[in-house]
Amino acid sequence: MIQQALKLLALLSDNNVHSGVELGGQLGVSRAAVWKLVQKMQQQYGVDITSVNGLGYCLANPLPLLDAEQIRRFMTAPGEQLGCSEITVLDSVDSTNEVALRNATKGSPNLSVWLAEHQTSGRGRRGKSWYSPMLGNIYCSLLWRVTGGAPALEGLSLVVGIALAEGLSVLGLRNIQLKWPNDLWVNDKKLGGILIEVAGDPYEECATVIGFGINIRMSPQMTSIVDQAVTSLDQYIEIDDRNRIVAVLLSTMCAALDEHKRFGFSRFSERWRAFDAMLGRSVNAVAGESVTTGMCVGVSSRGALLLETRDGLLEVYSGEVSVRPN
Ligand code: BTN
Repeated sequence: MIQQALKLLALLSDNNVHSGVELGGQLGVSRAAVWKLVQKMQQQYGVDITSVNGLGYCLANPLPLLDAEQIRRFMTAPGEQLGCSEITVLDSVDSTNEVALRNATKGSPNLSVWLAEHQTSGRGRRGKSWYSPMLGNIYCSLLWRVTGGAPALEGLSLVVGIALAEGLSVLGLRNIQLKWPNDLWVNDKKLGGILIEVAGDPYEECATVIGFGINIRMSPQMTSIVDQAVTSLDQYIEIDDRNRIVAVLLSTMCAALDEHKRFGFSRFSERWRAFDAMLGRSVNAVAGESVTTGMCVGVSSRGALLLETRDGLLEVYSGEVSVRPN
């Protein structure tokens, strides 16, 4: 069903009306089967397919599919100069992070990128799954080879968040915020998330896979499936082409990664402040069974969350942090 649906979307993404017979011919199925597929896509995913009386089907809001060539065309300096070596766009995969990890061990070059239109087992942080419907979001993983062991990874996940927030600002998003360590939020709702996974020897050269998912278009059906407050980019800016969005995000990401490699995290703590969703708010930091409450006063030069607590200033390096209800 997924492969057929993606194929149908590709055929409809040219903005024209296509008859059921023509679509059936292209998909190798009957006109009735096309009708069934359309119904399923409307009901299950909230895809806005209009059926034009007697003529066929078209997309109410067509969106070009992801395309490696288009992404390259939109890439700007300095990301372009630093260069994503290989960009691969896939239809449906288990998880782009999994694809990247598999390829990392097979020797894919640094800064290789994998994107997919759909994930069957999208992964989130802390063992959660990442809901990855097939329409119009971004699921992307980037291979970043790091030498120097664990110290060279310090603050990396925050740097990735900063790069995405800066890229989204370039695209015109005004109120993007970062929730430590690296959730992307708009108006206290989740717009995107980052999952960094490491392959290889964490004490020598290791391959980090930087995965990020950004909600671009989510129908009410889709948002209702997720068990937390989520939002999508189309609520705030006009979306014409995800290829341009990916290109801008990869450009800011490549530049930030290069800076992190050369100078570490310390230069980023001020940049974090500009997007800090927790700053000045009372939060709970949960690590195992213990819960610490404090006022967030920023992040340290090593990327730790700084909490002003009853017992003094506390540096939080791991765990789950949530804003306390007023
Ligand atoms: C989070 O829990 O906030 C992290 C979500 C990360 C999702 C992205 S989508 C692309 C990449 N592939 C995955 O399986 N996960 C990451």
